[in-house]
Amino acid sequence: MAVQSTDLQMLESLDRAQLHAHATRYYKSGGQTEPEVALVVYGDACAVLKDYARTPGWFGRLIAPVLIWREATALRRLDGIVGVPKLYRQLDARGVLIEYLPATPWPQAKPAEAAYERLDALVEQMHARGVAHCDLRAPSNMLVDEGGQPYIVDFVARVCRGGAWNLPWNWLFRQFVGADESALAKLRVRFAPQLATARDRALLEERGPVERIARGIGERTRSIVRYFVGS
Ligand SMILES: Nc1ncnc2c1ncn2[C@@H]1O[C@H](COP(=O)(O)OP(=O)(O)OP(=O)(O)O)[C@@H](O)[C@H]1O
Ligand SMILES: [Mg+2]
Repeated sequence: MAVQSTDLQMLESLDRAQLHAHATRYYKSGGQTEPEVALVVYGDACAVLKDYARTPGWFGRLIAPVLIWREATALRRLDGIVGVPKLYRQLDARGVLIEYLPATPWPQAKPAEAAYERLDALVEQMHARGVAHCDLRAPSNMLVDEGGQPYIVDFVARVCRGGAWNLPWNWLFRQFVGADESALAKLRVRFAPQLATARDRALLEERGPVERIARGIGERTRSIVRYFVGS
């Protein structure tokens, strides 16, 4: 078993202000409805801080804790899967510290064909653990390293499988699993058309009932948020 470095132990124990002070890069600088996402470096150790603490107003106070709870519970449920960042620490209701992935977002990476198969297998493993991601249509939520290992980040939209008795919820869950699969089809069509099958292309045309509803809710929510926060 790998021994955790002292630098990583130190990094994990830093408070929020110290974590920001050790940030060497912000992947996202935050906004009215968005977190700051920072690469934090301490000696030889790195981690990523996803933090809504400086997100203003009711979004920061009310919505952010729900999103962080959703992210943290999914990461705990997926713990140990290679390709999903480890949750190092939940700071509080508004922030999580997670494993840094030395990888590039899918759109910029131009991954080899084998990476697409590995991504399919990773998404299958995630579904087997009972988590549908629900935001794989955003290709920046998938990363890949130089060895072709794929990674998935950003679990705030996830839907988890319910108990065995919860048939309606599990029907919904399967619809979201289907939406993840059609997002992978879309990824192939867009970034590796030579791998895309006729079924992939057909999947893009058809939308399941849940996907239509989810998209409708998503679009409506975004316009309401935009109306209230003006961004
Ligand atoms: N663990 C990580 N290791 C390396 N990079 C990461 C990690 N987590 C996030 N990132 C980078 O930060 C970006 C934003 O992170 P994330 O998707 O979690 O935040 P977000 O608010 O949902 O952003 P967006 O709205 O762009 O999807 C990712 O696209 C990725 O480039
Ligand atoms: Mg994201």
